[in-house]
Amino acid sequence: MSNFKTYLLWFAQDHINFRREEINSLLNLLKIEMTFLEEPTLEQPYWLVKFSNENDLKTLSNRLVSLKYALELWGYSDNIPDLHREVQNYPKSLMLPYMSAEKTFKIDVETFCKHFTQKEKVDKLETFNYLPVEGKVNLKNPDVVFNYIEFYGVDPKSPPEKPYMVFFGRWIANGLRSLINQLSLKTRKFIGNTSMDPQLSLLMANQAKIQEGDIILDPFVGTGSLLVAAAQFGGYVYGADIDYLMLHGRTRPSRIKQTKRSDDESVKANMIQYNLEDKYLDVLVNDFTICYWKENFLFDAIITDPPYGIREATEKIGTAKSNYTISEEHLATHIPAKVDYGLSNLYHDLLNFCVKHLKIGGRLVCWFPVYRDDYDENCLPTNDCLILKANSEQILNKHTSRRLLTYEKIKDASDFQGLKNEIMDFRAKYYDTREETRREKRLRDANIRDKNWKEYLEKNN
Ligand SMILES: C[S@@+](CC[C@H](N)C(=O)[O-])C[C@H]1O[C@@H](n2cnc3c(N)ncnc32)[C@H](O)[C@@H]1O
Repeated sequence: MSNFKTYLLWFAQDHINFRREEINSLLNLLKIEMTFLEEPTLEQPYWLVKFSNENDLKTLSNRLVSLKYALELWGYSDNIPDLHREVQNYPKSLMLPYMSAEKTFKIDVETFCKHFTQKEKVDKLETFNYLPVEGKVNLKNPDVVFNYIEFYGVDPKSPPEKPYMVFFGRWIANGLRSLINQLSLKTRKFIGNTSMDPQLSLLMANQAKIQEGDIILDPFVGTGSLLVAAAQFGGYVYGADIDYLMLHGRTRPSRIKQTKRSDDESVKANMIQYNLEDKYLDVLVNDFTICYWKENFLFDAIITDPPYGIREATEKIGTAKSNYTISEEHLATHIPAKVDYGLSNLYHDLLNFCVKHLKIGGRLVCWFPVYRDDYDENCLPTNDCLILKANSEQILNKHTSRRLLTYEKIKDASDFQGLKNEIMDFRAKYYDTREETRREKRLRDANIRDKNWKEYLEKNN
């Protein structure tokens, strides 16, 4: 531990609840050791940490979606004079290799949560004139980048006069933020109303510890956003969905200005768009309750966003009619009826499916909707063969949120068939407690009007 160096990790300030779990999953996957110099608070955009070597940090950064950049820390303090003293005392033997005449360099100045003019930033930069740099400045493509950061808290409306913390260090690596833009839904060929945004999809793939050559399934695949993220990290991907029209790119377009979908919209087209076609195995039109996988087929990970019954129905194939048969002549063209699936049954089936079709150590990463006032960890789906490794909340509004659950399979099923704990009926609660929108009120009023008219006409005819 004595040869561990101190580094600064600087994070993006969105989805802060997911940061810790993402790093934990990747440290575990990449077998990298990291220790904290001090325990960070949830809102704090930086962590002070130690790694045994720079390559570990580079490898980790190359997968981290929540990270902006990482620095080798040469000094930090809660006041500027002390920071300069620290940097001046940083061992010359560690400093000089980056300051020789052959190495071009630049110093970036960043002020977090407080705006400074370019001139003020240059003045700050010049306070580091004592650094023994011999190389030339190169702003576009330097060999070495130094960063000076002033941290003024997390509330831009009332920053303090002086920074809370200041840091100086050598840039080591950026996180994967640029991938979020590359995979933006704005420019994606095939999207739908419930397409998962790229940042959350990539976070899910990291939670699932996906690595080169893994086989991944999304059983509620929709437009395949999670498959794009999984393939990006080297997974070979399968998807399934009950909605024939969705998988054939024939649902109503979700882009405001688009009136008709183009002929070639599909999950596969997205994979081609991102040069991931070689990772695409297939998508199947299938009801999750009807298992089509060979008994002993195992996936490395299952990542999914099941329907909650709000923006898309929670349905399965079935009929309420008893003794229902289809005549021979209608068999070929018959479109099966659907009945309500119910969240409790859906999650129970999902966990049981994972027990059967995940390898030991494989992960299920899925969203789970909750009504916030009623939330309690005991209402989460459980199964004797899976342990809950992570549980992070994404708040959707005052009353509702969804939790990203990460389970790991620890053993095969014995006769014991998992626990079926009752899960809160999110859908019923959602509609019971939500304030009616103006559009819904108009529709309700219109329905009442229609009903009144009907009754009136019936009475008067
Ligand atoms: C929240 S959406 C998934 C969105 C997807 N992650 C994406 O990025 O487009 C849930 C999907 O589950 C599908 N679904 C609903 N009931 C199903 C069932 N019984 N079997 C398989 N898929 C089902 C819906 O058609 C819908 O596409």
